[in-house]
Amino acid sequence: MKVKKAIIPAAGLGTRFLPITKAIPKPMLTVLNKPVIQLIVDELLNSGIEDIGIVVGKDAEVIKNHFAENLELEDRLISDGKTELLERVKAIKGSAKITFIEQKVANGLAGAIIAAEEFINNEPFAMLLGDEFLYTEKGKRPCIGQLIDVFNETGKNVLSTMEVDDVDVSKYGNLGVEEIKPNLHKVYDIVEKPKVNEKLSNYAIIGRYVFASGLIEELKKLTPRNNEIYLTDTLLDLAKKGEVLSYKFDATRYDVGDLFGYVKANIELALKEESLVEDTKKLIKELSEKI
Ligand code: G1P
Repeated sequence: MKVKKAIIPAAGLGTRFLPITKAIPKPMLTVLNKPVIQLIVDELLNSGIEDIGIVVGKDAEVIKNHFAENLELEDRLISDGKTELLERVKAIKGSAKITFIEQKVANGLAGAIIAAEEFINNEPFAMLLGDEFLYTEKGKRPCIGQLIDVFNETGKNVLSTMEVDDVDVSKYGNLGVEEIKPNLHKVYDIVEKPKVNEKLSNYAIIGRYVFASGLIEELKKLTPRNNEIYLTDTLLDLAKKGEVLSYKFDATRYDVGDLFGYVKANIELALKEESLVEDTKKLIKELSEKI
């Protein structure tokens, strides 16, 4: 069965980003003029996935409004002849079919997946974390598309991975792997956020996943620890059965849920944007002479 659906867990509290996240959900933070969640929807559309479930917390009006039609605004742009702006507004959703799913309790990633059970309907699905932006050059297969290709070839669960420095090992799920072919590994062990002296390798799990059907049944068997159900527990069981692969994707990853990651994404994207590149280069030159 091919992957046709994706979920975006977007119910996190975003405490690292207070005070802005007091009223604005973290996936609505922007990289230039687009909220991260729209960039993630673009990643999916450019990978051929249109059926998207966004898992939200209680205060999700801002996200819902961003993807809702705004006829008053569109009429205004039409009557003012502002076609370029009108295109920008229409491109927010593109051809995506978006379903909002409520995660009633903040019980982690596994909780978000279980909340989406009805939407997923026992099919394989992709999951994209709401605070990571994966940039690929125009015309290249996006990160989630690369993972979907691996799933379609193998039928196994696929985790996105990249190598991180020792200082960053403890921020991520950590993988014990065996190479199958360049960039593709079989995962035989997983530890969630280990201390550096307990790492299995320098391969970290990044926020893009493709799961085979049947994952939810396994997740529902878990007993919560500290009120949270851990996706990693189930992934470890599946890895021990040889059901998990990891793929070293070809894309640039920005952790926009981290303050410096957010600054970096905005500067680097400004350097890629035709209308901003010259001014941004000039600013960087001026600043680097001062510091
Ligand atoms: C989650 C996962 C972790 C993964 C990370 C990627 O952690 O539990 O395995 O490495 O996302 O960003 P979180 O960042 O939600 O604490």
